[in-house]
Amino acid sequence: MKRRAVWMILLALLLLPALGQAETRLMVVSDLHYLAKELYQGSELFLRALRAGDGKISQYGEELMDALEAEALHQRPDALIVTGDLSFNGEKASHEALAERFARIEAGGTPVYVIPGNHDINVLSSVAYEENAWRYTKSVTEEEFASIYRDFMCPAEGEGANLSYHVALSDRLWLALADVAYYQGSAQVFGLFTPAHRDWLELVLRDANAAGAQVITCTHHSLVAHTSFSRESFLMLNDTVMADLLRSHGAKLNLSGHLHIQHIAASEGLYDAATGAFCMSPHRYALVTAAEDGTITYETRQLCDEHLPDGFQEMSRAWFADITTEKNRAALADQMIPPEALQDMLDFSARFNAAYFSGVYRSADPAWRQDPGYMAWMEYGENTFGAYLKLVMDEPSGENLYLEIKPSTSTDEST
Ligand SMILES: [Fe+2]
Repeated sequence: MKRRAVWMILLALLLLPALGQAETRLMVVSDLHYLAKELYQGSELFLRALRAGDGKISQYGEELMDALEAEALHQRPDALIVTGDLSFNGEKASHEALAERFARIEAGGTPVYVIPGNHDINVLSSVAYEENAWRYTKSVTEEEFASIYRDFMCPAEGEGANLSYHVALSDRLWLALADVAYYQGSAQVFGLFTPAHRDWLELVLRDANAAGAQVITCTHHSLVAHTSFSRESFLMLNDTVMADLLRSHGAKLNLSGHLHIQHIAASEGLYDAATGAFCMSPHRYALVTAAEDGTITYETRQLCDEHLPDGFQEMSRAWFADITTEKNRAALADQMIPPEALQDMLDFSARFNAAYFSGVYRSADPAWRQDPGYMAWMEYGENTFGAYLKLVMDEPSGENLYLEIKPSTSTDEST
């Protein structure tokens, strides 16, 4: 054998273990609810609409997308996954502006993959905001969505189940991005896993198994119920069909959104990690790592201060707290509540909602139930926010920011 060939073989043997240790890293965001600037600039009405909403801070969509781009450059994941509700409410101009944003992220070295949510296609209530008025604006059809995001879906027209497609990210990790949003005719809030989805996903899972790769699925709607109140409209219809199919092929993780709450749910060895809404404080994203040995970790981060305008996270926290407080103040306005108790209730509602939505509420922490604000809610506000508090605080809520899934087939470990 020639000396050069021997050196080449030795070099290959030296490099082989290093190459084999490569892990795959995903960055995941959901529910951007981005509104193109031209559709709201200078509109007082838009701010009023947001103040009446659930805490979105979409008037800072440009700043948030700048920060996402910077974060992707900093994290350098193998892919950025966006699990639906890209636009505020389906506006064509928002989708077009977002596609330009994603092109910039790809130019920075991070491939982007998207699926639509319930606010993206055939939305009848897409509007543009003027100073003190609104007007209808164009939404997109399924075909238009596929055309606008053709560089961020593969193939853009999908693989036979709406816009669902799969990506072989590496020899060991495939993604199956299932478009279960229902927008035939007009956009509906629910998601549906159809027989076509089943046929498509079974084929992907079978091919991945044959190739020795594990599969992570991505959907907008939940695959596993997260809370009792989140069943209707949040859990996809025919969820058990998809869940059984995944279990029978050894897949263990679905990445979802839609809830706007950062939350991890488990059911018989299957995990659904709902990444909190990117457009809401504390602006979370997730990093998912598939290691060489098959271990998958899901961990959340919040947008880094250095990528945002000065004081942004604090300002966004205050925006979210004010929205909760003012809604509750209005709901309690005609009730006879001592002023001190009312203040405790309002303070508690803001603190609790911030903790719950950002995934840090722990039902085992006794401080929540010992809080004077909680006690006042139970005494004076049982028919309003108090009813919601009772419902969500009675449900066990543990670790929602971090998950580790071991590759073993018999038992999974969650921490
Ligand atoms: Fe949604």
